[in-house]
Amino acid sequence: MAVSVDRILRWKQTGQPAQPIAVLTAWDVMSAQIVDAAGADIVLVGDSLAMVALGYDTTLPLTLEDMLICARAVRRGVKNALMVVDLPFLSYQTSVEEAIRAAGGMLKAGAQAVKLEGGHEGVVERVRHLVQWGIPVMGHVGLTPQSVNQFGGFRKQGKTQTEADRILAEAKALEQAGAFSIVLEHIPAELARDITKALSIPTIGIGAGAHCDGQVLVTADVLGLSAWQPPFAKVYANLRQQAIEAAQQFCGEVRSGQYPA
Ligand code: KIV
Repeated sequence: MAVSVDRILRWKQTGQPAQPIAVLTAWDVMSAQIVDAAGADIVLVGDSLAMVALGYDTTLPLTLEDMLICARAVRRGVKNALMVVDLPFLSYQTSVEEAIRAAGGMLKAGAQAVKLEGGHEGVVERVRHLVQWGIPVMGHVGLTPQSVNQFGGFRKQGKTQTEADRILAEAKALEQAGAFSIVLEHIPAELARDITKALSIPTIGIGAGAHCDGQVLVTADVLGLSAWQPPFAKVYANLRQQAIEAAQQFCGEVRSGQYPA
């Protein structure tokens, strides 16, 4: 049965199924088909695709148009998983109206929900409006990569008590505003555990320990396709090296006349 926002919400409220939620990212039709066929519960078209698929150093240069192209491609590859799309930097910050337009465009492209970064009052207000207009929202607190310049790098967040209290308060405010789940990125495991206990909506961790209601990783990291992986990623295959070797074999066979036979 295809996964819905309602099913993700009930997952935590009923404790059924009694297992964590598995989330993977996708950026094109092939990655979407792979992740969906693998049985991921949620496919996230994360703005990490700016770095993974487009070669930027941060997620900041990604445009709404870039994201729409990728979202439409992913839609064509996903059958069962819930499809969530990140709103890129500067597509929701300036006004409620822009946020609704950007998020609505993602739904028209086939997304079932959008994800916004941050938990300060401005973001919380956007979430409240989007939810009122029937657009489901996943929150994202802790290391929010669109604020990389503010953080001075992709650093672990929530290490001091003041920071931890702020992140917990942000997560609660996002829940209050109507978010149906929240990504907790690169924060101490104890903080993620406390947030998970305090909320009635599922938390999805990435570099946030084992106590979250679900886990997400960037698929290019899981498959060993990316040139660099963050310290918390687990790499399950070495496809980058295998792909290089296959391509080298092709080049060699063309040059030696072995291919075509
Ligand atoms: O952009 C992304 O891929 C994300 C996940 C890593 C949570 O936001």
